[in-house]
Amino acid sequence: MSIRLPFIKKKQKETIQLMDSKNVPNHIAIIMDGNGRWAKKRSLPRIAGHKEGVDAVVKAVRAAHQFNVKILTLYAFSTENWKRPQKEIEFLMKLPKEFLHIHLPELMERNVRIQTIGEFNALPAHTKEAVQYAIDKTKNNDGLLLNFALNYGSRYEIVQAMKHIVSDINEAKLTLDAIDETVFSKYLYTNGLHDPDLLIRTSGEQRLSNFLLWQMAYTEFWFTDVLWPDFDEAVFKQAIEEYQQRQRRYGGI
Ligand code: FPP
Repeated sequence: MSIRLPFIKKKQKETIQLMDSKNVPNHIAIIMDGNGRWAKKRSLPRIAGHKEGVDAVVKAVRAAHQFNVKILTLYAFSTENWKRPQKEIEFLMKLPKEFLHIHLPELMERNVRIQTIGEFNALPAHTKEAVQYAIDKTKNNDGLLLNFALNYGSRYEIVQAMKHIVSDINEAKLTLDAIDETVFSKYLYTNGLHDPDLLIRTSGEQRLSNFLLWQMAYTEFWFTDVLWPDFDEAVFKQAIEEYQQRQRRYGGI
């Protein structure tokens, strides 16, 4: 029964619609920030904010699916987040498994494909197993791509790409002259993914925090004071509708 409940809720709640269903950003990246502050405001431990943050992830995925977004990239754990207290890290590392345990059937029903960016191999075994299972299970789905940035750091990604390029040159698999922006992009975790059109960051902070630095060269940024656990379909709709008012010129006129 606990698995069926989300389906009932989903059917009842999906009424929110965009005013303009065209010009929807293909790829939306989100920095999910403010879990700790959400918990502090309620005199709860920080992990309570992260737990509530999972419900906001569910809302974001349902809304992205409904709005016909093609790729949703969620910054779930950065390479810098290892500096947090061990107990908090352990809690964060359990969240993908908990989320997938409950919601994988719904993700399948919604034709969602799961993928990750980041140093996957350095994650704890239980996290890797749960996520790998979901990646394999959803690999033939061709709807929304739900891309979790897990143990992700953009500078590290760029340095790794550079090392890989040098190694390919040394092994005569690549020439210096062949390197351009398109070739360089292929060495990043995001190989094959369209760059984000829209970045959303919650909690009032206005910085990139080592997230997709190369990929967001022309991304539109949208910031909100809403703390991540309070993020919902209405906030998501507002972000997309403000994006739809922007003029993207890519340096032209
Ligand atoms: C930043 O808020 C949030 C994180 C580092 C963790 C984000 C993780 C989730 C929202 C859950 C992920 C769910 C799945 C299914 C992978 P913060 O803790 O830095 O908040 P603060 O700035 O208010 O302290």
